[in-house]
Amino acid sequence: MLSFLEVVKPDLEAVNRLIIAELGSEVQLIEEIGHYLINAGGKRLRPVVALLAARCCGEPGDRHIALAAIIELIHTATLLHDDVVDTSEQRRGRATANHEYGNAASILVGDFLYSRAFQLLVRIGDMQVMRVMADTTNTISEGEVQQLLNAGNPDLDAAAYHQVIRKKTAVLFQAAAETGALLGAATAPQTAALRSYGLHLGIAYQLIDDVLDYRGDATQLGKNLGDDLAEGKMTLPLIRALQTAPAADAQQIRTAITARGGDLTAIAAIVTATGALDFTAALARDHARQALAALAVLPDTAARTALHELAEFSVQREF
Ligand code: IPE
Ligand code: IPE
Ligand code: MG
Ligand code: MG
Repeated sequence: MLSFLEVVKPDLEAVNRLIIAELGSEVQLIEEIGHYLINAGGKRLRPVVALLAARCCGEPGDRHIALAAIIELIHTATLLHDDVVDTSEQRRGRATANHEYGNAASILVGDFLYSRAFQLLVRIGDMQVMRVMADTTNTISEGEVQQLLNAGNPDLDAAAYHQVIRKKTAVLFQAAAETGALLGAATAPQTAALRSYGLHLGIAYQLIDDVLDYRGDATQLGKNLGDDLAEGKMTLPLIRALQTAPAADAQQIRTAITARGGDLTAIAAIVTATGALDFTAALARDHARQALAALAVLPDTAARTALHELAEFSVQREF
């Protein structure tokens, strides 16, 4: 077990029970697809961030359990939708729900999970938390649409890429940390610190995800490599490689992005040779350092140590 999970083990077990309970519906396909994805595993990092943030500044009540379940439900909904738009075939070591049940069912069950999450939020009844989650899901959608518009464009620059990863991924980590803090009765400066931790953690997390899409191990990751290239996504490894690769190699990247597909082995070799993967991983470590720096204002607790370890895991991970 990952060491940072130790502190929140009973909390996380309660979160998993609540998630399963909240998948309940009289429409059997909803439960079936919900269980299919939830029971396949998943690292539960976002709910863990929320639980730890809530425990950083005192003893929370029990609302952080529901909050963490909400965050994982939202994450799961985004995965259902994301795998449709990315035409991905593997997720959490299984066929994706879109592959198994079709696009329509995936989109609709994703909507069910989103709205179930908001039903639960209303039950928590904290207007500040509700506002953060409403803004966050709106921003995630915006990021995914922005990414869709960027696909196939080899001229995309690093600033545009950073905007997309902040919106599609980092804001949910940020929200997990911030809302956890809010329910944990953190002070305003402590909440701001946790929010900053979540943002930098989330950026680092997606940077590494984009590295692993070229040099990860599909079995360990539970998803296929090369999905980004196949969708014509200019992630930082490619943006960086274009700046330094020999002309013929750069042209191969441009052609693959425009065509939304190319020789993955050849392009992975180019991004490796140019140092673009190491460059991206180094930037991720830089964000992880900023995440750790933000934690400095918090009291020295087991929860803070666990957040520290979680940030380190996020940049060292192979899965
Ligand atoms: C996948 O998230 C989507 C990204 C933002 C990269 P995770 O890597 O956290 O996926 P699970 O939940 O562990 O399967
Ligand atoms: C993260 O981006 C997607 C979401 C925020 C939903 P990716 O498309 O890179 O995630 P994976 O690689 O499919 O998990
Ligand atoms: Mg995807
Ligand atoms: Mg990815």
